[in-house]
Amino acid sequence: AAPAPSGIYQRASETAEYLRSQVPAELRNPQVAIVCGSGLGGLADTIHAEPVFSTPYSAVPNFPQSTVVGHAGKLVFGLIGPAKLPVMLLVGRAHFYEGHEMELVTFATRVCKLLDIETMIVTNAAGGLNPDYEVGDIVLLNDHLNMPGLMGFNPLRGPNPDDFGVRFPPLSDAYDLELRQRVHKAWGKLGLGQGKRRLHEGVYAFVSGPTYETRAECRMLRTLGADVVGMSTVPEIVVARHSGIRVLAFSLVTNKAVLDASTRGDDAAIQGMSKQELDAYLSKGKANHEEVLEAGREAAKDMQALVKQVLSDLGAA
Ligand code: HPA
Repeated sequence: AAPAPSGIYQRASETAEYLRSQVPAELRNPQVAIVCGSGLGGLADTIHAEPVFSTPYSAVPNFPQSTVVGHAGKLVFGLIGPAKLPVMLLVGRAHFYEGHEMELVTFATRVCKLLDIETMIVTNAAGGLNPDYEVGDIVLLNDHLNMPGLMGFNPLRGPNPDDFGVRFPPLSDAYDLELRQRVHKAWGKLGLGQGKRRLHEGVYAFVSGPTYETRAECRMLRTLGADVVGMSTVPEIVVARHSGIRVLAFSLVTNKAVLDASTRGDDAAIQGMSKQELDAYLSKGKANHEEVLEAGREAAKDMQALVKQVLSDLGAA
């Protein structure tokens, strides 16, 4: 006899079945899921092809309720591009810092698998650690540092749900190379590189938050090889890879993390500063949620155009 399904498989099945019962037939089998991060939910409004089916997370059984400003949670099913590729957008996500367990943070990813989604595109707002990055730049992730994961908060900790994947999944090829090549092509096709915004490839450091990083933490993460830092995405990617979903991930650089030496008052740079100069020095690069949302609004259009182009190309492939 087949082994009994794991608890998480049963709960995710219940949610997938509910969605299948609600969503119109032509939208019921999305091939791609797109997770829209802070300020990046506008993608949902760029789905022109009717019909569109939308439902708030609050109506979806077992779904976590998001508590962050700028993250109103909803699921949107629609068709994108000339080839009418069926997609599902997840506008808003559950974060670990909200107090959710990792299983809940990654629950929607499990549901994606049970909806037979093959590819997941994950977006987020992140702080730039690479001094070469500017606010508004887009970073295609090619690797990550799972800081909470390395310390024990890995979403796959615990009994392995064998119905999703193996006990010890590899992550050395987590960020799909073929999809990344498509992004570079789409970027060229759209001519987005003509403006001042740049496309990079880089390493994302996942931290739990909710505090932004101290200067010393920024230097540590940079020393460890991170290019951007943020409070999401990696748990979803780990769980997606566990069940064989292909992954593409983008960060929008919404602020530059501070790598400057110190604020102790004993370093040469700040010895002779006036009160005004000191205030300016201390506020430089100090991350705040408003700034993150604002940069998101400005750059989001290009990011959305890029994701849409990749989806159109995928639909045509
Ligand atoms: N640190 C962590 N998360 C973030 C940042 C940051 O500087 N900016 C946007 N999300």
